[in-house]
Amino acid sequence: MRLTIENLTKTYKNGVKAIDNLNLEIGTGMFGLLGPNGAGKSTLMRTIATLQSPDSGAINFNDIDVLNDKIEFRKVLGYLPQEFGVYPKMSANDLLHYFASLKGITDKKERNEIVEKALELTNLYEVRNKNVAGYSGGMKQRFGIAQLLLNNPELIIVDEPTAGLDPAERHRFLNVLREIGTNNIVIFSTHIVDDVKELCTDMAILNGGKILAQDTPKQMTASLSDKIWQTTIERDQIEQIQKEYNVISSSYNEDNMLNVRVYGEESPGAIFTKTLPTLEDVYFTTLSNDKLITESEAV
Ligand SMILES: Nc1ncnc2c1ncn2[C@@H]1O[C@H](COP(=O)(O)OP(=O)(O)O)[C@@H](O)[C@H]1O
Ligand SMILES: [Mg+2]
Repeated sequence: MRLTIENLTKTYKNGVKAIDNLNLEIGTGMFGLLGPNGAGKSTLMRTIATLQSPDSGAINFNDIDVLNDKIEFRKVLGYLPQEFGVYPKMSANDLLHYFASLKGITDKKERNEIVEKALELTNLYEVRNKNVAGYSGGMKQRFGIAQLLLNNPELIIVDEPTAGLDPAERHRFLNVLREIGTNNIVIFSTHIVDDVKELCTDMAILNGGKILAQDTPKQMTASLSDKIWQTTIERDQIEQIQKEYNVISSSYNEDNMLNVRVYGEESPGAIFTKTLPTLEDVYFTTLSNDKLITESEAV
């Protein structure tokens, strides 16, 4: 399976260019779209889901010309938006039966099987008779997945599904995605680096409507091998350090000192020791390099 996006641009009426001549190719597996707020994640996903039209560009899914054959494409698409509406006071089981009927699955036996499978895959079988309106955030997100699984989609797009979930719910949700991501393309967006780290077979960093990098999480991290350096400083030294070095991030340790991570092709100085790169290092350096480029272009 393959989704190909070519030269995609989308400008909103207020002049914001949310997607800027974007190119992207995605194969079977879990794809993580990582980017900060305002990067263009939701715009890209709504555009792929054919809910809004781009200014220009092309999207192809296998043999389907997505932008010109929306009806055909929607049959194989499952899309879970970032914000979705309020649920009526109905049980998950009844609601899924209702949605399945709307999708034209009229045979009762067939519908039972499909609904049951969706409930099982999303770990909601035990709570299937409870009202969805009373579900926790994580359960609601999993119900959203159950709903889109009803028509057995080949391409699944999920927009920031882990935002607002507590760590346990987040973990459970990501496991559900992992379950369904093996034979399909699953694209999910997030601003949380850890979401993509273990789960994704492929990922991209998006900002300013552009893809800044695309690779496996492992390769992304390996690209910074031997270039990340660490030191521990007093809190009041941070401004000086930031002036002198290419600081990626800093965090307090248990002694209330600051652990500082610095980028450098070579050792930045005697106080630093080499450390293993993390995906977070990749994310921060990619975003800050992009910011430097954008600023220099603006001058
Ligand atoms: N309907 C809209 N009208 C005008 N501007 C929008 C609209 N939706 C999003 N934007 C702008 O487009 C940019 C990308 O937004 P969005 O796609 O929502 O990013 P993300 O999902 O990564 O946070 C932002 O600058 C946002 O303010
Ligand atoms: Mg969004």
